[in-house]
Amino acid sequence: MKIVRAKDYNDMSRKAANIVSAQMIMKPNCVLGLATGSTPIGTYAQLVEWYRKGDLDFSEVTTVNLDEYKGLSKDDEQSYYYFMNDKLFSKVNINLSRTFLPDGMEPDSDKVCRDYNKIIADVGGVDLQLLGLGHNGHIGFNEPGMAFEAETHCINLTESTMKANQRFFSSMDDVPRQAYTMGIKTIMQAKKILVVVNGADKAAIVKEAFFGAITPKVQASVLQLHNDVTIVADEAALAEVTDLCP
Ligand code: F6R
Repeated sequence: MKIVRAKDYNDMSRKAANIVSAQMIMKPNCVLGLATGSTPIGTYAQLVEWYRKGDLDFSEVTTVNLDEYKGLSKDDEQSYYYFMNDKLFSKVNINLSRTFLPDGMEPDSDKVCRDYNKIIADVGGVDLQLLGLGHNGHIGFNEPGMAFEAETHCINLTESTMKANQRFFSSMDDVPRQAYTMGIKTIMQAKKILVVVNGADKAAIVKEAFFGAITPKVQASVLQLHNDVTIVADEAALAEVTDLCP
């Protein structure tokens, strides 16, 4: 596990984008595993900037995202597809038919999960998986206690997550109750993993996840067992581990 120290959010984003770019340059037809959330937004913005300068080419890249809400269509502003399209896909020369997320509109959840596992296998697995880190150590929608053996699965959102999401929807009835996520097994099968973390509010979980016990209670702790993980974190997120890492 390599920890790359960044000064602040912008520096974290630039360093993470450099690692994604290196992957794309070394293997132009690579498979990138992508995440949504606030942390990687700057990374995507940096990749878009380098693409506009002519330094990056997405034409042969395939992407598979970590997760998607059940019941939201691609053009719903709250869907993860919409987020990815807004932040990255619509701004670079990626072939949209090679961008994959679980199908939020298919009513048969088992089919969605089966199909998504097959897509990941068919594209040859993920070369580089980008991850954010939840305050409780979740990665994707894998919440504390989920078995490490899980592949893509459908989860019921907790009441507190639904309440937190309520602000994005016109009423509580519109808040999705379920979501699809790659499981820990799927994530661990990626050849390389890149975690981006920033902010003082993540300092405690950074210590627990990457320097504490490996336990399903802290899903990200399993990353300690992967042989190619890079964590790019800003000073604030590393505040509690300064003595533990170079
Ligand atoms: C996003 C995802 C989540 C986020 C995590 C951190 O696709 O799966 O696990 O990475 O919740 O979110 P932010 O970056 O908003 O702090």
